[in-house]
Amino acid sequence: MTLKGQRALVTGASSGLGAHFVRVLADSGASVVAGARNEARLEEVCAGVSGGRPCRLDVTDRDSVEAAFADEPFDIVVNNAGISVAGAALDYAEDDWQATLDTNLTGCFRVAQCAARAGIAAARGVSIVNVASILGLRVAGHVAAYAAAKAGLVQFTKAAALEWARHGIRVNALCPGYVETPLNRDFFATEAGQAMIRRIPQRRLGQMEDLDGPLLLLASDASRYMTGSVIAVDGGHLVSSL
Ligand code: NAI
Repeated sequence: MTLKGQRALVTGASSGLGAHFVRVLADSGASVVAGARNEARLEEVCAGVSGGRPCRLDVTDRDSVEAAFADEPFDIVVNNAGISVAGAALDYAEDDWQATLDTNLTGCFRVAQCAARAGIAAARGVSIVNVASILGLRVAGHVAAYAAAKAGLVQFTKAAALEWARHGIRVNALCPGYVETPLNRDFFATEAGQAMIRRIPQRRLGQMEDLDGPLLLLASDASRYMTGSVIAVDGGHLVSSL
């Protein structure tokens, strides 16, 4: 499935999954705008990517999000920016709660709303892929704000899909399980990390490449009759034995 001629936006593109998604979409022929706050890191991400262009974007700032949509509308929007501040719910700081909700849920709403408005104004379809998490569907300890935000994102995905389907705007969610990135590699090398891996039915962490097929499915016309879908990519973690 080629994405030639398609314009894509990936938020949170300066590291981890976002940077990987920029490369995957560009390799399939899309011209990709890589959005995040750190322009120096975005330049590095885009350096080796033909068709990649950096764009300063803070999903917690409406003006910044609207500016990213000032040009031609995007055909594909990957709502990937996210943060996680771990902590016990009893002691959790309200500022951390607000920041997590603002980035992981309201940020995705801001981006999706701008994407849908631009698509509708130009009478063009848009595929919005919200990067949620298996923690939006089940819970774990010390991630209450993150899990609440991702669960909200799963429900927002379905609500927006319902409202925007008639305009050709598709909204689907990808729910990765634990994916190895530079940020969490050290944790998964510890005893606690290894114990977590043993609870995944496939007995391994996800690799970023495991998300390529599902991402391209949802981004492309191959999923033209899919909207409001929630796809877990987790080595079976969600169906692990209780
Ligand atoms: P990461 O920390 O490497 O990437 C997150 C990106 O979002 C960074 O580039 C960061 O700068 C950006 N970002 C944060 N706040 C932003 C803001 N206000 N505006 C614009 N960009 C902002 O983490 P990772 O692992 O690559 O995560 C990417 C997405 O995948 C997140 O939404 C995360 O919740 C989700 N996810 C990750 C999993 C994993 O195991 N790595 C599992 C399930 C979901």
